[in-house]
Amino acid sequence: MATVNENYLKLKAGYLFPEIARRVNAFAAANPKAPIIKLGIGDVTEPLPEACRRAMIQAVEEMGDRNTFKGYGPEQGYGWLREKIAHHDFQARGCDIEPDEIFISDGSKCDTGNILDIFGKNNKIAVTDPVYPVYVDTNVMAGHTGEANDQGEYGGLVYLPISADNHFTAQIPSEAVDLIYLCFPNNPTGATATKEHLAAWVNYARSHNAIIFFDAAYEAFITDASLPHSIYEIEGARDCAIEFRSFSKNAGFTGTRCAFTVVPKTLTAQASDGSKVELWKLWNRRQSTKFNGVSYIVQRGAEAVYSDAGQEQIKALVSFYLENARIIREQLTAAGIQVYGGVNAPYVWVKTPDNLSSWDFFDKLLQTCHVVGTPGSGFGAAGEGYFRISAFNSRANVEEAMKRITGQFTVGNRE
Ligand code: MLT
Repeated sequence: MATVNENYLKLKAGYLFPEIARRVNAFAAANPKAPIIKLGIGDVTEPLPEACRRAMIQAVEEMGDRNTFKGYGPEQGYGWLREKIAHHDFQARGCDIEPDEIFISDGSKCDTGNILDIFGKNNKIAVTDPVYPVYVDTNVMAGHTGEANDQGEYGGLVYLPISADNHFTAQIPSEAVDLIYLCFPNNPTGATATKEHLAAWVNYARSHNAIIFFDAAYEAFITDASLPHSIYEIEGARDCAIEFRSFSKNAGFTGTRCAFTVVPKTLTAQASDGSKVELWKLWNRRQSTKFNGVSYIVQRGAEAVYSDAGQEQIKALVSFYLENARIIREQLTAAGIQVYGGVNAPYVWVKTPDNLSSWDFFDKLLQTCHVVGTPGSGFGAAGEGYFRISAFNSRANVEEAMKRITGQFTVGNRE
C-alpha cells in the first residue's frame, strides 16, 4: 500500500489563513447580513498598475501572432526582466548582483519553501517567533523538525523571540545555526532592520558558514531612507545570503504571480565529502527540472514595473496602502490601544486590548465589529496577546473598520 509523508502529520491544524477563512465563512453563513471587512490575509485590493496592464495586453497580442508567439521560456526567466531587476533593484543601490543570479518565479511563498530542496537534512534552522508560518511549516514537511509541543513549537528548530523589548529584531543566537530566516520589513510585526542589525547577522553567518534566507517581499514599503532594502547592501552578504523578492505587494501581483529569488554565484554550502558546492548551480538545476518559468505575458507585466510610468504607479499604490496603515495606527492609538509597525510596512501589530488572547480578540472583533484580522498566536507562541491588522484594503473599508473597532474598544467605552 502507498504510504504518506509522515512529516505532514506533524503539522499543527490547518495553515493559518485557510483556518481564518474557515471561521469567517462559518460566521458569514450564520450571519449572512453582517457586513464583514477583511483585514486578515495580506492580499492587495487595488487594481494592477496601468503600465503593467498595457504591457500584458501587448504581450497577449504577441502570443496571437505566429511571428512573435512564444513557447516555453527560460526556466530562470527572460534575460530582459532579469537585467532590469539587477540594474534597478540592486546595482543602482550599490549591490553587486548580476542578472544571471536572479531567478524569476511565481512567488516568494513558493520559493522560500522550495529552496529547502537544495539543502541537507541536518541543518540547524533558526526562525524568529512570531514568524511567517510558511518558513516553519515547509521545514516540518521536509522532515527537518521533530513533533510540536503544546505551544506549537517544533522540536529541532531554534526559535528567536522578538517583542517590543528588542524592537522586534532577534538577538543573534549564542549557539551555532546553519540556516536563518529573516524577513524585513517584517511580516507579521511590521518592524524594520537597520544596516547595523543586518551587518551583525551577516557577520554571524559568515563566521558560522551559515546561510541567511532574507525575505524582502515588503521592501517597497520602506520610506525611511536610512534603512536597507536588500541584504546585499551589507558587505559580505553575497557570501552568505539568498534574497526573496516579489511583485505581489508593490505592484499588486498577488493574483498575477511573479517574484524572484537571488542566489549569488559566490554562495556555497558543504557536501558530505567536505567539498564546497555552489548553491547557484543546485538552484539552477532544481528550477530547470521542477519549474517551467513564469508566463511570458506576466513577465512583460513585471518588466513594466521598471518603466518610468510603472515606477510612478507602484509608488502611488504603496503610498495608498501606507496611508491606510497610518489611519489604522493613529485611530487605534487614539483609542488607547498599543500598536507597532505600519510605518515602513503594510502590517500593524496590535497588543490585544483587555488582555484578550489572540483568538479571543479575533472572535470578538468578528462577532461585534464584523472585522477580520490575524491572531498573533498564529505566527508563533510569542505572538500570543497580539493581533495583526493588514493595511491592504480600500480606504473606505479601512476607515469603516477603524470606526467600528474604536467604537467598541476605546478605553472607557468597552463592554
Ligand atoms: C500574509 O498575510 O501574511 C501574506 O498574505 C502572506 C503571503 O503573501 O503569502
